[in-house]
Amino acid sequence: MDKLLIRGGNGLNGEISISGAKNAALPILSATLLTDQAVTIGNIPHLHDITTTIELLGLMGSQITVDERMRIEIDNKAINTFSAPYELVKTMRASILVLGPLLARYGKADVSLPGGCAIGSRPVNAHLQGLAAMGADIVVEGGYIRATAKRLQAVHLTLDIITVTGTENLMMAATLADGLTIIENAAREPEVSDLANCLNKMGARISGAGGDRIEIEGVAALHGTAYDILPDRIETGTYLVAAAMTGGKVRLRYTHPELLESVLAKLTEAGAKIDIEADTIMLDMCGQRPKAVDIHTSPFPGFPTDMQAQFTAMNSIAQGSGIITETVFENRFMHVQELQRMGADLKLQGNTTITQGVERLTGAPVMATDLRASASLVLAGLVAQNETVVDRIYHIDRGYETIEEKLSQLGADIRRLPG
Ligand code: EPU
Repeated sequence: MDKLLIRGGNGLNGEISISGAKNAALPILSATLLTDQAVTIGNIPHLHDITTTIELLGLMGSQITVDERMRIEIDNKAINTFSAPYELVKTMRASILVLGPLLARYGKADVSLPGGCAIGSRPVNAHLQGLAAMGADIVVEGGYIRATAKRLQAVHLTLDIITVTGTENLMMAATLADGLTIIENAAREPEVSDLANCLNKMGARISGAGGDRIEIEGVAALHGTAYDILPDRIETGTYLVAAAMTGGKVRLRYTHPELLESVLAKLTEAGAKIDIEADTIMLDMCGQRPKAVDIHTSPFPGFPTDMQAQFTAMNSIAQGSGIITETVFENRFMHVQELQRMGADLKLQGNTTITQGVERLTGAPVMATDLRASASLVLAGLVAQNETVVDRIYHIDRGYETIEEKLSQLGADIRRLPG
């Protein structure tokens, strides 16, 4: 298993480009199942989760080609299998996103139930309840969700909890349903809007995405299109925090600054000077140590849970004390004990971490069991004395495109140790 070796202490300076958003690319790849015409997708990040999704589509019969500009063309004319096997779903929960499209277009789907997860129990009851309300017949047996339906029927749904992939699954299913579906208490994440924009380019009639009430007028069929994925706001935020922690000055290109309001506000509070120019964010820490910040995660437009671990790492070396409360997932604290092993003064009380910043962390061998927790350990390694070795970096490869290359480009001393 590959590891990352980091020698801390270098300030990050320079410019890098942000990749396409993982959490927009995954539902959009699944959405191609809704049509038998070719869909071409650009700005796809080169990530392990994308490879897994392509493998899953390939198993179902998708013809997939990649052109010289790294645009992926997916042709789903020959879909002949309607199932997502446990072997793939266990490595990537987002495989659940094929459920809605398969059911809407083919009337059947066998999708392994995602198991437990390092960051919480993460049930999919909202997906299943919504699809059942649309007329699907759903049984869970042998660890699989087995769903069948004639044409799905439009329905007025009010979700009990705000769920990103739940909203996406139901929105995709509703594009081909009979009538006007309304989803209330929908997730407002930008990736939901990106999916809706892509579906509309495929001929869907969706309005209101980005708000908490989405309306979908079902159509008889969707068609092919070409679509570019929006930039990854969490990758952007992660590199901004890395720069802030090291007192650096960076310029991140090809991003969407307006999607990071809550994150930029916290970085400003921490002492960063932020400048925005069209698709570019400049952050300058002027060599200063950041000030600790208090954070409360919540669904968009609140502060993203996917940035919680990175800010915990920042608070570990900041001036003063900070309180971070996680409200989206019940157990997203895999990084806490590892940061403690690097010398962080951190207390975990229920769903809250209380940090008293220390001047310096010390390098250590560390490992984490989820994507953002692993990223926070890399950030900690960048400012720690001596060497940090981050193990199990396949978690990082799931969500960060060539993280060691981008950080090296900014002046970090980091390299991959092949396992
Ligand atoms: N929930 C339920 N029932 C459901 C669905 C969700 O109780 O049927 C609960 C979850 O247990 C959780 C909360 O609702 O406590 C929110 O979960 P949500 O369904 O929104 O999460 P998700 O759709 O599984 C997506 C992202 C996550 C991100 C969350 C929250 C994708 C592929 N994944 O997950 O991304 O943390 O939304 O913003 O879009 C990551 O990129 O590292 C990552 C984990």
